[in-house]
Amino acid sequence: MNRTRPNPIAIRSPQIATDAPKSAFAVGVLDVRRACLRQPTDHTPIWLMRQAGRHLPEYRALRAKTANFLEFCYSPDLAIEASLQPVRRYGLDAAILMHPRVWEASGHVAGFSDPLIECKSCRRRFRADLPEVQGGQCPVCGTREAFGEARQFNLMFSTEFGSTASSDEEDNKVYLRPETAQGIFVNFLNVQKTGRMKIPFGIAQTGKAFRNEIVARQFIFRMREFEQMEMQFFIKPGTQKQWYDYWKNERMNWHLSLGIAPEKYRFHDHVKLAHYADAALDIEYEFPFGFKEVEGIHSRTDFDLSRHQTFSKKKMQYFDTELNQNYIPYVVETSVGLDRTVMMVISEAYEEQDLSTPEKADSRAVLKLPAKLAPIKLAVFPLTKKDGLPEIAESI
Ligand code: GAP
Repeated sequence: MNRTRPNPIAIRSPQIATDAPKSAFAVGVLDVRRACLRQPTDHTPIWLMRQAGRHLPEYRALRAKTANFLEFCYSPDLAIEASLQPVRRYGLDAAILMHPRVWEASGHVAGFSDPLIECKSCRRRFRADLPEVQGGQCPVCGTREAFGEARQFNLMFSTEFGSTASSDEEDNKVYLRPETAQGIFVNFLNVQKTGRMKIPFGIAQTGKAFRNEIVARQFIFRMREFEQMEMQFFIKPGTQKQWYDYWKNERMNWHLSLGIAPEKYRFHDHVKLAHYADAALDIEYEFPFGFKEVEGIHSRTDFDLSRHQTFSKKKMQYFDTELNQNYIPYVVETSVGLDRTVMMVISEAYEEQDLSTPEKADSRAVLKLPAKLAPIKLAVFPLTKKDGLPEIAESI
């Protein structure tokens, strides 16, 4: 378990801070204000303010309006939603194979499926909700009225465990995780108790996920083995709307910080909500094949922790010292596909340039990675290998 840096100002680049004055400012302000309240004469707040001032022009403007630093800290201009707090997040690397009941509790055994249809003639299988099969004609062999009833096809890969396994296959069944999220839920109390964490805080994880997609396609957009970057943010029940809006904004800012134009993104609010969610949306990017989901943000209520509590018969409660009360935290999840993000960045950076002259047709492909992401930021190429130019280039 890695402790990520708790100071949100420090983890924000100047570019994001200026792009996202509201949220970055609000969180930064609280950091400064909290530090002032703790130790008004300490150097820490001044250091914090300098940090913030470097990145956030709003700080400089407000600081200039106030006579001294303490006045600045208590200035009514800094009025923000009081419950916003510095955002603490921890890293985790949970198991890929977990107890099969984890997936019963999460609802994946019963409900993580896509509708599948099979062509009576060529036996090719398709997702029943794909546009190309809606007319009933097989897109591969052309047979009309090719499909029977759709059946639900569970997307989890399974395998068996144990050298002393029972002869009943079902007893030995384990699943490859179809999302990293459940590894975070089942470790919630391990992290909270060992880290003495106070709500709100997040647990984030980057890791492999496996789904037996009926049709894996569009290069690395839809694969059977892929990578997710997920965070479960644990909050007080009743504050989910506020944190959902907060993360919606924060995540869009993160996407914009990749150097991609705002018009290439859009939010897609879910109308039909999953059984575990009270609000959900996708962040979609305009790929060459249309707007598609790269990230999901879900307000998951206390569904997951409650289910794990029921199935494991172990309390999943948090004791809130401010309220003097136990409760099962609510969760806002951010879940972004690493492969889809890479594909998005490459789609954005790829350009075919026409270099044709009247004499000759010519073209070239250029990958214009944003400077922030490019592994090599700058290169000096001497035009010749002689006259000491390579050495000069090297020294530059
Ligand atoms: N824990 C919530 C969850 O897993 P999801 O919308 O099923 O939500 C989250 O998946 C993200 O994972 C998606 O937005 C997408 O970027 C990525 N993803 C899902 N299935 C994928 C696949 N088959 N191949 C590549 N990426 C995938």
